[in-house]
Amino acid sequence: MNKTIIVSNRLPLQVKLEDSKLDIKPSIGGLATGMKSVHAEGNGIWVGWSGLTQDQLTPELEEEVKTAVTKEKCVTVPLTTEDVDNFYLGFSNKTLWPLFHYFMEYTTFERSEWESYKEVNQKFADVILENVNDGDTVWVHDYQLLLLPKLIRDKKPNISIGFFLHIPFPSFEIFRTFPWREELLEGMLGADLIGFHTYDYERHFLSSIKRILRLEVNFNTIDYHDRTVTVDSFPMGIDYNKFYNAAMVNDSQQKKERSELQRRLDEHIKSDSDAKIILSIDRLDYTKGIPNRLKAFEYFLNKYPQFKEKVRLILLAVPSRSNVPQYQKLKRETDELVGRINGEFATVSWTPIWYFYRSMPFENLIDLYTTSDIALITPVRDGMNLVAKEYVATRTNQDGVLILSEMTGASKEMNEALLINPNNFDQIADTIKQAIEMPIEEQQNRIKILQERLQRYSVEKWAEEFLKALETTKEKEDVFI
Ligand code: UDP
Ligand code: G6P
Repeated sequence: MNKTIIVSNRLPLQVKLEDSKLDIKPSIGGLATGMKSVHAEGNGIWVGWSGLTQDQLTPELEEEVKTAVTKEKCVTVPLTTEDVDNFYLGFSNKTLWPLFHYFMEYTTFERSEWESYKEVNQKFADVILENVNDGDTVWVHDYQLLLLPKLIRDKKPNISIGFFLHIPFPSFEIFRTFPWREELLEGMLGADLIGFHTYDYERHFLSSIKRILRLEVNFNTIDYHDRTVTVDSFPMGIDYNKFYNAAMVNDSQQKKERSELQRRLDEHIKSDSDAKIILSIDRLDYTKGIPNRLKAFEYFLNKYPQFKEKVRLILLAVPSRSNVPQYQKLKRETDELVGRINGEFATVSWTPIWYFYRSMPFENLIDLYTTSDIALITPVRDGMNLVAKEYVATRTNQDGVLILSEMTGASKEMNEALLINPNNFDQIADTIKQAIEMPIEEQQNRIKILQERLQRYSVEKWAEEFLKALETTKEKEDVFI
């Protein structure tokens, strides 16, 4: 039976060592959370890095990791500490991530890290080649593996290969600054189908293909070495029913035990019926616009002092890539801003910002989503942003307001949200006020339309459409050959 092999740098489970014992947790981030339900239903395998390096593993531990991941239909790619330093923390997250998110000032170009990027992409190719059979489909994900489609194609020319980029593809003027630009594009062109979240990213990619590789583009196909590569946009959805149903259980009080977090939230609500909770959830990443959000919230409290003691911002910032200096700097900046704002505005009975620097289990995320009146999502650049979609899916009474940055991929399909420019504090302050005062009928009208769209275009549908398009592309190519 043919299978689909999903490939991403990070597996959906994350293995760590705690006192020489394995600690296994679900991975965080849109790619892992989104693809998890697609993987769970299929008959395929998922190839990726476990989160541990080879030098951390004794033969016994290695066997334990293997058993644990095999149970989840996963296969690991062994990485060394050097690989992690140069390929993951280095090239992926000090070069590609900032460059593709328009943070030129954070982008470094290190030849040794580029060499490591190529080597590690080859390591992924080796594991795939050990596991792939004729007739299988390989679906490669994200910016850490841009060279992989070509490496697989070179050895298995007839395999069906899809590639999906979960982050923005930048405009030509940004992309052209990248020293190894031809090689990177050629790596991607090893795929039969290349997918992006939005039409803008697709357009930028095609423009780089034309101007850098001088290839002819016919609408959305590229003739390349006797093959046709198709490029298209597929905005990723969420497992809508999972979020909606979990929120239903919360609302109907079926849950036997209220979590400690939920009890604190209940207390907050009981203390003042006018009190509003504003929620934000993201990995602590400079693309997410966290300092902007905090400064805009401070600006709001100064501009509209009538909301002091009435509004609370819950800021859930999940630790991410904390060995990269820019992330450490952001952590310091966030700590300082929260401290300053709380210090400035807090009263004996009110702290304006509740700040959590950790990840939360799914049940607690649902507690936060269902209890919050407003979600404030302000990235300065974000490929998609699934948190915005998850918030909407949990609004079982169709109340609640989503304030969303127009710099997110999600904003392209969420016009009924209140869209803001994350650099315009006046606009954000006014929009928070508008959200607090929005009549319930208007909230429901907006959420209803958003929910219908999210339910229709769920993550299952997204994966189905991508794989169907890949199959069609491949059939056309086979006829062509
Ligand atoms: N998330 C999680 N645990 C947390 C906080 C967030 O699993 O404590 C999940 C969240 O539910 C969402 C994902 O992390 O599915 C974040 O995806 P998003 O697309 O918003 O941003 P990314 O992290 O991919 O940049
Ligand atoms: C984003 C990226 C993913 C990545 C995730 C978490 O969602 O698109 O590829 O896995 O962030 O980042 P990390 O570096 O921890 O894998």
